[in-house]
Amino acid sequence: MRYLNAVVKESMRVLPVVTLIGKTCGDKPLQLGPYKLPAHITIGVPLFAIHNSDANWERPTEFIPERWDKVPVESFVVGQMPPLGVSEGCDKDSAASTAAKAAGERSEVRFMPFSDGPRSCVGQTLGRIEVAAVLAALLGTFRVELAPAMGGREAIQAREATMITLQLRGAMGMRMVLHPRWLP
Ligand code: HEM
Repeated sequence: MRYLNAVVKESMRVLPVVTLIGKTCGDKPLQLGPYKLPAHITIGVPLFAIHNSDANWERPTEFIPERWDKVPVESFVVGQMPPLGVSEGCDKDSAASTAAKAAGERSEVRFMPFSDGPRSCVGQTLGRIEVAAVLAALLGTFRVELAPAMGGREAIQAREATMITLQLRGAMGMRMVLHPRWLP
């Protein structure tokens, strides 16, 4: 389940369901790093770009569940993480202290598939459990393959489109072939 959780996080990093969120400033102007944002202005927070930028991630286009090895299972908001392959000092950290550390690095958050702060996803606990439970049940019963009619991974990527949520253009959806594991 720990590895499954890492796969879920890595999937949500590379392909966040919600690709863009909007936040509106309050009654006062806001200083955000070098930028002064006027009151009441709405800004877009591009989760897809934050999760896929090489400013934030080593080898961002590669699917590497192991990069979540040292992140506590419960952390779905993450700031700085040790570089890939570097784990000195992390083993002796308890999950709770690492989670607290991750929470303390909120100024450098670079992973937040459920958003962050007081208006983050209210259904995220249910969402996380649902995703893991459905995947565990499905993958325990079937071997899953992309249907040949989908044209392979490149064809899928060419049809990716963001309409606030990440979707595939066209009416085909994502067709899969399920091979029952109990059959030879
Ligand atoms: C994997 C599944 C899910 C993902 C990735 C997800 C992601 C998000 C994100 C990114 C936001 C912030 C949107 C914004 O700021 O514009 C959000 C808000 C919200 N989500 Fe989810 N969500 C998921 C599942 C759920 C479920 C299962 C529920 C309800 C049972 C839910 C209910 C809500 C609600 C009500 C809000 C608005 C919260 C507010 O504005 O205060 N979500 N979600």
